[in-house]
Amino acid sequence: MMKQVFLGLLLVISVLSQNAFALGDVAAGKIKAAVCGGCHGLDGNSLVATYPKLAGQNERYIVEQLAAFKANVKRKNTLMLGMATPLSKQDAANLGAYFQSQKIKSTAPFDAAKIARGRELYNGGDLQKHIPACKACHGPTGAGNAGSGYPQLTGQYVPYVVAQLKAFKAGTRTNDVNKVMRVVVDKLSDDDIQSLANYIASLKQ
Ligand code: HEC
Ligand code: HEC
Repeated sequence: MMKQVFLGLLLVISVLSQNAFALGDVAAGKIKAAVCGGCHGLDGNSLVATYPKLAGQNERYIVEQLAAFKANVKRKNTLMLGMATPLSKQDAANLGAYFQSQKIKSTAPFDAAKIARGRELYNGGDLQKHIPACKACHGPTGAGNAGSGYPQLTGQYVPYVVAQLKAFKAGTRTNDVNKVMRVVVDKLSDDDIQSLANYIASLKQ
């Protein structure tokens, strides 16, 4: 009996320490986010298709991306290098907490004629081509997985998503741990990528 209680406690502690990642302060993040608003929208609902939406994006993922831009090796972008360089780890956590607390407001423009193959791949993968279902990690509505830091994709812009999938494929974006995305995109054709991006743009939570 005591042993069971003890094991139960250990489990609680290990779950808590995984969640202990969330160190950001929403109010402090909101103040810092003013400078991000010009491109990403003040509440993270960017209005420009080449600037990703950050509203509802999970803190862990945001923190990891800011660190990657700052290091400028595995994910490079001139605009974001400039933005990420002055940020401390605490700033990044605060910004992540702030954007995570915001809500995605709408889908992104998409071509309904193009989404069929994307829907199929997203939800079921392709056994023959060894493509896993995207929803296994990104969730059926694209909500992602905050605990694991898998990004939210819901309603993200087509041009942005296409650019990222192509960057993983070309090997210019390499910050995916264990090549988790590079292995996936390797088997996607250009048409698959277009269709997936249009399907993702159509997702809502
Ligand atoms: C001048 C425009 C601009 C400003 C200002 C800006 N960003 Fe960005 N941001 C971008 C662009 C462009 C990208 C996409 C980069 C790429 O293609 O890899 C991006 C990407 C990101 C990403 C990755 C999103 C994802 O889904 O992977 C995060 C996180 C981010 N920005 C956070 C911030 C934060 C926090 C600030 C404010 C401190 C900020 N940005 C300010 C233009 C900007
Ligand atoms: C095994 C888990 C897993 C599977 C399956 C998976 N992804 Fe991902 N995906 C990730 C992770 C983790 C990242 C973040 C990588 C990083 O840190 O750069 C990511 C990143 C992305 C991004 C970049 C998001 C952004 O905001 O920049 C896109 C787009 C994406 N995935 C689309 C897909 C699509 C489409 C599929 C299915 C064909 C898929 N993913 C399957 C785990 C997965």
